[in-house]
Amino acid sequence: MTNLGGRTALITGASSGIGREFARQLHSLGCNLVVTARRMERLIELKQELERFRPDSVECVAADLTKRSSNGDNLLGLEELVSRLEKIPIDIFINNAGVGSFGPFEKIPSEYENNIILLNIYATTMLAQFVINKMKASRQGMYLCVSSIAGFQPLPFMATYSASKAFNLFQTLALRYELRGYNISVTALCPGPTETEFFGVAQLAAQPPDLRRAEVQDVVNESIRAMLKNKAVVAPGWKGKLMVLVVRFLPLSITTTFSGRFLGKCLPKSG
Ligand SMILES: NC(=O)c1ccc[n+]([C@@H]2O[C@H](COP(=O)([O-])OP(=O)(O)OC[C@H]3O[C@@H](n4cnc5c(N)ncnc54)[C@H](OP(=O)(O)O)[C@@H]3O)[C@@H](O)[C@H]2O)c1
Repeated sequence: MTNLGGRTALITGASSGIGREFARQLHSLGCNLVVTARRMERLIELKQELERFRPDSVECVAADLTKRSSNGDNLLGLEELVSRLEKIPIDIFINNAGVGSFGPFEKIPSEYENNIILLNIYATTMLAQFVINKMKASRQGMYLCVSSIAGFQPLPFMATYSASKAFNLFQTLALRYELRGYNISVTALCPGPTETEFFGVAQLAAQPPDLRRAEVQDVVNESIRAMLKNKAVVAPGWKGKLMVLVVRFLPLSITTTFSGRFLGKCLPKSG
């Protein structure tokens, strides 16, 4: 793959899963990294692991992206993170941090639905605006936003999550048009179920379906290739591509009913 030596990549949600794997693979391609998440100890572990290969190449910033400013808990808020990044040139931005929920809409604590909106929608938008301004000024960059296969259609019992991922997908595709001619690649990553901490962390008012999950290394490898080729959308793996094909060509009423029946089977009987 292309050598990205000397480029700086900003990765949100780098303490686990897809974000951490982007950090590993982009670092192995030569990137310097700015990694952020709430769990600083995880970021430091990652820094130690990667800097064995290249010293002084990883900067860690502990931040809670659902907060505007710090609560005095050693975590920066969104505004402070943006000020911290002001003087750092960012060549690649992986807008990845996100959370989900599963269950009947009214049974999921509203605080959690709120977090999905604050993190998946508000924070991703604020950070994208900030970074794209920088990239436009330097007339170069690569922007990859992590949406989901769930972004292509409404998912009953994942209503807020799938709506947030549709937001990520549509916003990214619209930005792609706006940024043509600026030498900035813009890609929406739409993974299917992937083996990460996502399902353990998600607020679950019901057990999610036990689907076979893709390996995070394969998902990220295919995504980086797509980003380097400036592909609009990447749905990693043959299953991902098949799912996207199906949901693109069937009416939403049919795919929503099908998903609702499938996911509804996972609800507790009393639910
Ligand atoms: N896994 C899947 O099946 C799947 C499928 C499609 C799309 N996706 C998308 O992929 C992205 C990454 O998810 P993942 O699967 O890698 O899950 P994950 O392992 O749970 O990683 C989520 C990351 O987001 C960070 N994060 C969560 N809340 C945060 C907050 N308030 N402030 C700052 N960072 C926060 C977490 O770090 P801290 O907890 O340390 O803050 C963690 O690094 C998400 O956008 C998700 O929607 C996942």
